[in-house]
Amino acid sequence: MTGNKTFTIIKPVAVRHGYIGSILAKINEAGFRISAMKFIHIRLEEAKAFYAAHEGKPFYEALVSFMSSGPIVVSILEKENAVEDYRKLIGATNPADAAEGTIRRLYGTNIQANATHGSDSDEAAEVECNFFFSKSERF
Ligand code: CMP
Repeated sequence: MTGNKTFTIIKPVAVRHGYIGSILAKINEAGFRISAMKFIHIRLEEAKAFYAAHEGKPFYEALVSFMSSGPIVVSILEKENAVEDYRKLIGATNPADAAEGTIRRLYGTNIQANATHGSDSDEAAEVECNFFFSKSERF
């Protein structure tokens, strides 16, 4: 049994490059329903907490600094098999390795500024949705 929701972030460089609309169009075309969304700028401490699972990895400090460097768009996306289908839509972590037509291939800059984050499991999706959205912020 797979879950019907996932969580995504449009990352700072993709926002700065003006890709919000194009990325949301891809999300809509792929059949996801957006049930929550915010345009926010998180502080370093929030980025550290969100990416706590990666603490200690060589890229962690640069990643959390980057994620708090400018505005981002956070959303909850709903669809059957949401986690897996969204990961297919965004492509491999490194945009250079992502398949043609995927969001990271089209709008990613490098492995850190890879356009979007997507939850990697139903359990992570639950935690990540709850990190940014209260019940009353979901529709
Ligand atoms: P994201 O889906 O946001 O989840 C964790 C992030 O860590 C990932 O996308 C990448 O941006 C980043 N990341 C993962 N592996 C590396 C790496 N080897 N070097 C730099 N950044 C990485």
